[in-house]
Amino acid sequence: MTNLDFPRAPAGAFAPGRVVTSSTGLAEPSPLHFGFDVEGQLVDALAAESFDRLFLVVDEGVPEATGSSLPERLEDRFDCRVLRVPGGEASKRFARLEELCERLVEAEVSKRSLLVAFGGGAIGNLVGLASGLVYRGIRYVEVPTTMTGQTDSTLSNKQAVNGRLGKNHFGLYHSPLFVWSDVRYLRSEPATARRGGLVETVKNGFVSDAALLDWLAATLDPSAAYSDASLVELTWRSIQSKLAIIARDPGEKGEGLILEYGHTFGHAIEALRRGETSHGEAVALGMLLAAELACELGLIDERLVERHRHLIVDRLGASAVWPAGVDAEALVVAMRRDNKRTGAATRFVLLAEAGRCHDPEGDFLVTVPPEVVMRVTSRFVERQRAGAAA
Ligand SMILES: NC(=O)c1ccc[n+]([C@@H]2O[C@H](COP(=O)([O-])OP(=O)(O)OC[C@H]3O[C@@H](n4cnc5c(N)ncnc54)[C@H](O)[C@@H]3O)[C@@H](O)[C@H]2O)c1
Repeated sequence: MTNLDFPRAPAGAFAPGRVVTSSTGLAEPSPLHFGFDVEGQLVDALAAESFDRLFLVVDEGVPEATGSSLPERLEDRFDCRVLRVPGGEASKRFARLEELCERLVEAEVSKRSLLVAFGGGAIGNLVGLASGLVYRGIRYVEVPTTMTGQTDSTLSNKQAVNGRLGKNHFGLYHSPLFVWSDVRYLRSEPATARRGGLVETVKNGFVSDAALLDWLAATLDPSAAYSDASLVELTWRSIQSKLAIIARDPGEKGEGLILEYGHTFGHAIEALRRGETSHGEAVALGMLLAAELACELGLIDERLVERHRHLIVDRLGASAVWPAGVDAEALVVAMRRDNKRTGAATRFVLLAEAGRCHDPEGDFLVTVPPEVVMRVTSRFVERQRAGAAA
């Protein structure tokens, strides 16, 4: 295994079966193993750890088409219990968390046990939170099977479930023993889910790396039908783009907040749509809105707003169709529950230019008067609706 800390992968680094190891670089860092078709090596990596029993929590939505036989491999080699849980956002709630914790205790989990989360970002968050709570914290390993899981959610240590009023309201920070990202699992992902993960890569470009935006404009395919080699390169570059930001703020307390670009609008859209709009689709719309907000405030010009539309809609292939049932007033109210607000004001990550955020208050957030947020949001919603009806 090799240590790599550069954004471009060396030729041949990702031949099938080869594992490349780096680190999440967070305040509590975890080893990050990456490769294509490396499930066998995962079993060996687990064998090197000490535990009394393994608990593999499997996202039921991981299709057979991934070619994975992880449950069988782990049951063959270890004292392993397999717990299957429904995948997706509907699992990120207290009821499912409680059920999982109780099932683990019934199956005799101990402080020396090791949990393995195998699935999308939602299941990673659920298992990460459960492992932070059971007996006040036991170890766990993340094996993400989605683009978002591999390029985003596993690179944060943030574990949470949703509340009745919004996303990720209840959680904690808990770092995995290691992360194991096998790009082979991503081959079965539907186009919308792949795009959802790549939305965050586009975001990373807008907030901190203008050169990445040029590379993405040339590389992205709106159909999201990527070859294995392209998928590996895109996933690797996506991971590196987030790690570069984390490296400047491992605790995600300062500059790391720029990762929230488009998320204030996005989380509110997700909450109002109650799972009908995915995180990626919501953040794509959120970035389009944030660009217009920055333009309204005179921070960026129309060309940069247009560049958002080009990358997000034309190149990435994300939809700019406004979701049914979400009106501007409800969105502005929902944003007041955003966990970045102070007092009554809603605060946003906004750009100063491509690859750099505006930072007038020293914390990379910009307080925007409510009437400006309302004006921009109403105009955007009306225009998107009119466009869809035309
Ligand atoms: N903690 C963080 O910092 C952070 C960052 C980004 C996202 N997240 C969270 O991650 C979640 C989104 O993750 P996601 O995009 O992976 O969605 P997801 O976990 O909701 O999964 C979407 C669907 O894909 C299925 N699936 C899983 N693997 C698959 C595969 N290989 N092929 C086909 N289908 C597969 C799942 O069963 C589910 O039905 C959200 O809850 C979001 O809040 C957290």
